[in-house]
Amino acid sequence: MKCLIKNGRVIDPASGTDDTLDILIEKGKIAEIKSRIESSNIRTIDASRLVVAPGLIDMHTHLREPGREDKETILTGSRAAAKGGFTSIACMPNTYPVNDNAGVTRYILTEARKTNLVNVFPIAAVSKNSESRELTDMADLVRAGAVAFSDDGLPVADSQIMRRALEYSKPLNKLIIDHCEDMSLSANGVMHEGFYSTLFGLNGIPSSSEEVLVARDIILAEKAETSVHIAHISTKGSVYLLRRAREKGIRVSAEVTPHHLLLDDSLLETYNTNLKVKPPLRNKEDMAALLEAVKEGLIDAFATDHAPHTPDEKNVEFDNAPFGINGLETAVSLLLDKFVTKNILSLEDFIRMFSTNPARLLRLEGKGEIKKGADADLTLLNLRKEILVDPNKFESKSRNTPFTGWKLKGRPEMTIVGGRIVYSARP
Ligand code: DOR
Repeated sequence: MKCLIKNGRVIDPASGTDDTLDILIEKGKIAEIKSRIESSNIRTIDASRLVVAPGLIDMHTHLREPGREDKETILTGSRAAAKGGFTSIACMPNTYPVNDNAGVTRYILTEARKTNLVNVFPIAAVSKNSESRELTDMADLVRAGAVAFSDDGLPVADSQIMRRALEYSKPLNKLIIDHCEDMSLSANGVMHEGFYSTLFGLNGIPSSSEEVLVARDIILAEKAETSVHIAHISTKGSVYLLRRAREKGIRVSAEVTPHHLLLDDSLLETYNTNLKVKPPLRNKEDMAALLEAVKEGLIDAFATDHAPHTPDEKNVEFDNAPFGINGLETAVSLLLDKFVTKNILSLEDFIRMFSTNPARLLRLEGKGEIKKGADADLTLLNLRKEILVDPNKFESKSRNTPFTGWKLKGRPEMTIVGGRIVYSARP
């Protein structure tokens, strides 16, 4: 029941810690943090030359169970999360059936408990069957264990439903997360609308499709005097709206995915369906605006939007493939390699955006910080080791990554949940 992590570089943005420290774990909790803890007869993990971060949290994962276990299950998704360095994942409700009632929420929690790997936090639907016609019983869903609400995969299209959801979420103290997409503008689009969609002869999804709903949600959150969260922000215009809202003191937060920071629409010249995602990969100007917003602290969180699909579904004409990118096992290495090791982003900011802030946004007690009494959820990072992205080695059931063959410096070395090692890269 006891374990000692020795000599790691402990970085905890919540307390401003960045120091070489020992961490004693007892009964699943952090019992002590000191520069030297003497040990005898305790299992000891040598963390010298490693970074010890509060357990990373992916606030936007699709687990597909119940209903589409051919794409992913709670077990395979949890294994992928553990390997990817995540101690907690929040799963979106677009399963079959949709997680719009306490029965589905409880099912997910029961299966996750049996799996016993990472913490799984269900996000329940805002509207019944995510159809934006009738609100779910939000209080009942919270009692069952939902940590937030979203109709992700789809927007909350009806503004009255969104307004009521924001109002009801307030006394429940739960976040509403919106997939901002005006479906009448995105229509039958399959990629970002612009120069390249014309060149490649593919139907476009304009930036305005996202921005119209971001603007609406900001207005509704302001009127309701509550907060709202923008899922997978992707355009320069959305960043502009976010900045203006924050300047006015409106409580709007946002997350960004690694793929929207690293890939642009010109890459679709290959018609690789693993690049087909919603919102679509935008242009280089959008990417630059997103990165700037990350550096400024305007965008609060990284999120994978892990969206597994089977090879058969993706191995079709571009127009017919489903939207989505597999993200859990590549996100950490992509961000460490492309931003942290290149000094574009500090390690502290990386951890803040992948642990501290997601814990705060989802109100996860005892998560996202390293302090006495907190859950012993820790991610150990090795900044010197490289990974080669090979989807055949994924723990996820699906293989739909556009990053195949990328060599990335920096990897999760060990994932510890409640004091238990659930993944180790060490032989
Ligand atoms: O590309 C996407 N795939 N975007 C979403 O919002 C939903 C997701 C999915 O569920 O496949």
